[in-house]
Amino acid sequence: MIKLSPRLAAAAALAGRGESIIDVGTDHGYLPVYLAQNGCFAHIAASDIRSGPLDSARRSAQEYGVGDKIAFYLSDGLKTVPETFDTVVIAGMGGETMVDIISACPWAAGAKLVLQPQSRVDRLTEYLNNAGFVCRRAVLCLDGGKPYMVVEAEAGEGGFDPARALIDGRDPLLGMCVEREIGRVQRALAGMERGETSGSERGKLRDKLSRLEMIWKETKRWQS
Ligand SMILES: C[S@@+](CC[C@H](N)C(=O)[O-])C[C@H]1O[C@@H](n2cnc3c(N)ncnc32)[C@H](O)[C@@H]1O
Repeated sequence: MIKLSPRLAAAAALAGRGESIIDVGTDHGYLPVYLAQNGCFAHIAASDIRSGPLDSARRSAQEYGVGDKIAFYLSDGLKTVPETFDTVVIAGMGGETMVDIISACPWAAGAKLVLQPQSRVDRLTEYLNNAGFVCRRAVLCLDGGKPYMVVEAEAGEGGFDPARALIDGRDPLLGMCVEREIGRVQRALAGMERGETSGSERGKLRDKLSRLEMIWKETKRWQS
């Protein structure tokens, strides 16, 4: 049986079980192999924009004995994938690429999305919020000492707020991750005071710092 890294294991946990799932930008294909080996979904597909990674996913599936249980598609996002899915996983990509993929797919608004952005979480959050998604669940994990966040998004009322989902879920890594982020923002602000950054940029960072400090206080409350 394949063993997933903590980051992909967190994505698999949020994907859960269901009818159909596609892993977009699958690369090595470890996630769909895991889902096939564990019988989590009746129909499983994997896609990638490049043929090299997609071939690598096919090889993984063969090696782990699930080559006939996964459909493979060469596609930019979901543009030329010829079927729809209940669940879409996109992991290990920047938030902006995720926005491009989701916004170009007409049926994505009706799917459960499991997303693990590597960067530009702010851009992804803004898009999902404006596009009428809610954050059902969010989890943090440490992989190779680095923190990663995985979110589950679905169409719904109330706005997309992963921080709230982490607080409500009392994520055990939240305090540590927020402390790190507070340090990063404070250093960025100190750098801005020395340089020539506009007042509005500084204002945005100060707002971010206040929000982080509020989250940090909440985590201390439930840790005490
Ligand atoms: C860093 S790998 C992540 C692999 C795997 N999802 C994971 O999280 O470990 C990113 C993969 O996404 C693919 N990719 C990038 N842009 C894509 C797009 N627009 N559509 C489909 N795949 C894409 C790349 O070719 C690459 O294989």
